[in-house]
Amino acid sequence: MDNLVESEYVVPWMEKIAVYPGFFDPITNGHVDIILRGLRLFDKIVVAVLKNPKKEALFSTKDRVAMIQEIFAHQPDLKVKAFDGLLVEFVKRHNAKIVIRGLRAVSDFEYEFQMALMNRQLDPDIETLYMMPSVHYSFLNSSVVKEVFSLGGSVKGLVPENVEKKLREKLRQGRLSVGK
Ligand code: PNS
Repeated sequence: MDNLVESEYVVPWMEKIAVYPGFFDPITNGHVDIILRGLRLFDKIVVAVLKNPKKEALFSTKDRVAMIQEIFAHQPDLKVKAFDGLLVEFVKRHNAKIVIRGLRAVSDFEYEFQMALMNRQLDPDIETLYMMPSVHYSFLNSSVVKEVFSLGGSVKGLVPENVEKKLREKLRQGRLSVGK
């Protein structure tokens, strides 16, 4: 064995952990698609659900976390955690170096570009990786789901079943209206 091979041999195996951050109010099948793609590339994914008092949410942080946990209950390589403060600090606390995000269309680019470069400015060791969701979900986001559902439209196939059920509950309680 020459030196190079020997040194490669003794490097301990490290888990590849990625963080997938978002507001997830609520999670859609577009988000699920990105998580499933991520699980093919990484050993573990930590879904980081933003607790953001500045942004009005339809679902509480607890509900947003619980819905994602329920969808991936049989996936041991996925954890769901709420976070506040800087994303890069959350990423470091979870021993990760990669942030994954979905990129649907050119319109996403400017915001994502700014966020990725700001995060790199804050911590040059953290890299952001973008993935395109299936074309079936390229028009989809949480706001459009809430708007369509609140106006009586169908969101079947666009959100997981448990999310659809929760949306129905909110509608019954009169808590789901356009703009919320
Ligand atoms: O689902 P969203 O709203 O596109 O997610 C945005 C999110 C949560 C990824 C972003 O707002 C975030 O990372 N917030 C944490 C605060 C932070 O670290 N800001 C600096 C990077 S711009």
